[in-house]
Amino acid sequence: MKSFRAILLLPFLAFALAMPAVAADDDDETPLEKAMYKMNKGYKLLGKQARKGDFDFDALAKAFGDAKVASEESAKLVPAKIAKMKDGDAKTKEIADFKKHIGALTKQLEAVITICKAKDADKLKAAYAKLKDMKKHGHDEFIEDE
Ligand code: HEM
Repeated sequence: MKSFRAILLLPFLAFALAMPAVAADDDDETPLEKAMYKMNKGYKLLGKQARKGDFDFDALAKAFGDAKVASEESAKLVPAKIAKMKDGDAKTKEIADFKKHIGALTKQLEAVITICKAKDADKLKAAYAKLKDMKKHGHDEFIEDE
């Protein structure tokens, strides 16, 4: 009977043990990562629809409204890689460069919203390609190596 009860308890024990790990992962995210994940929602939705060639313009306009807000939040933050640099001209220059890239990203997200409102599928595909490029370039330059 005792071992039967122990078997019943096992899934709960496993769950209880896993929970702190999940919570810790969430806390490990930097504020910039949190903002980036918000942006990622619209980006992924657009990517999926661009691959199918079938766009839900209203849903995309809404998702990119959120992405734009997240991009504006990002401009106030500093990537972990730059935060670790010692104070001085090099760090100031890197922060300015990061802000410039995020500023361009915000403009591109705005452009996506305008294109969604105009319901222009071809322009939306091109806008996705540009976003992909900006993401790759931004990550290559500003994310620290593992
Ligand atoms: C559509 C555009 C973008 C999307 C969807 C996006 C998405 C993401 C996601 C999901 C993460 C967290 C996971 C990971 O490391 O891959 C991330 C992290 C990061 N992204 Fe982006 N990103 C975009 C553009 C950019 C641009 C243009 C920059 C630079 C100007 C940038 C800078 C960073 C940095 C620095 C991190 C690491 C966070 C930290 O250092 O605290 N991202 N991004």
